Amino acid sequence: MDILREIERLKSDLKITVAAHYYQRDEVISAADFVGDSLELARKSAADPNPYLVFCGVGFMAQSVKILAPHKRVLMPRIACCSMARMIDGAGFDRAIALMNEAGIASGDIMPVTYINSQAEIKARTAKMGGMVCTSANAETIIRAALQSGKKIFFTPDRCLGLNLAKRLGVSAAVLGKDADLASKALIAFDGFCSVHQLFAVSDIEFYRAKYPNILIAVHPECDPSVVDRADFVGSTSQIIKWARSQPIAQPIAVGTEFNLVNRLRETNTFVLSSTKPECPTMNETTLRDLLGVMRSIENETFMNEIDVEEEEREWAKIALDRMLSL
Ligand code: 13P
Ligand code: SF4
Repeated sequence: MDILREIERLKSDLKITVAAHYYQRDEVISAADFVGDSLELARKSAADPNPYLVFCGVGFMAQSVKILAPHKRVLMPRIACCSMARMIDGAGFDRAIALMNEAGIASGDIMPVTYINSQAEIKARTAKMGGMVCTSANAETIIRAALQSGKKIFFTPDRCLGLNLAKRLGVSAAVLGKDADLASKALIAFDGFCSVHQLFAVSDIEFYRAKYPNILIAVHPECDPSVVDRADFVGSTSQIIKWARSQPIAQPIAVGTEFNLVNRLRETNTFVLSSTKPECPTMNETTLRDLLGVMRSIENETFMNEIDVEEEEREWAKIALDRMLSL
């Protein structure tokens, strides 16, 4: 059986759109109607007119579409989870706020900003405290806006993105549970991280600079600040793609982000900034067969791996996402 042809038949017979994140396997990308980073996918998928969306990515991304477009039936070929998004749940968020209160910071003086790589309950709690969501593509704009409130930013869950942005904006920062004197800091980061982007190290940068003296190095802001500090370019997935493709083809580049994306960036003179193969394990689980399976479940009305978000939580989470989209 030609899987791709069968996928195309199901798409048109049942009005199904397939969205895929850039980190998906090549075979999945080849079947997608659109490919994007988390911000692009949230926007495009929510605006798509088809009643069914099959989302090839990780759970928080599919959840964001359901939050923005609740009338849509959103399904995933596999329930794949972002390990960073699972590092904080609602109870953890409440404990973090309590720790800041103990450090002398009143709840009314805290403005939460949550990275889109988080569960709906974190986005809902963020909205209830007047905060908003950001992605790596717009984190600088969102944090700048949040700082204007005069409140302390509680940035969750990614410690690295929080610290990297604080440095870029020239504001003081601390990591909750690691650093003392929280009350004197402008940004307090939760101690979450991306296990894939933690793989890139200063020694990798030193290795490539020694081997190719004219190399340019780009990294995602989920990398450790020590790595980000030594890079030539720092950007979100879509920003890295644009940057890499704007370089002359003879220019060697090394890129510190997910393997599948880097592998498709340019044909030559492109290196993965790691001695390992930095694949996002859960993103990589989804195959073309899984995609076909979930589409067949729409056809036979068993609706495998459908994403749902409890209504009150969804409404609050939508407020946090809408605040971001309005900026
Ligand atoms: P983007 O927002 O750049 O798509 O990143 C999402 C992500 O999970 C990066 O690891
Ligand atoms: Fe989550 Fe990291 Fe995978 Fe991105 S690369 S989806 S942050 S685990």
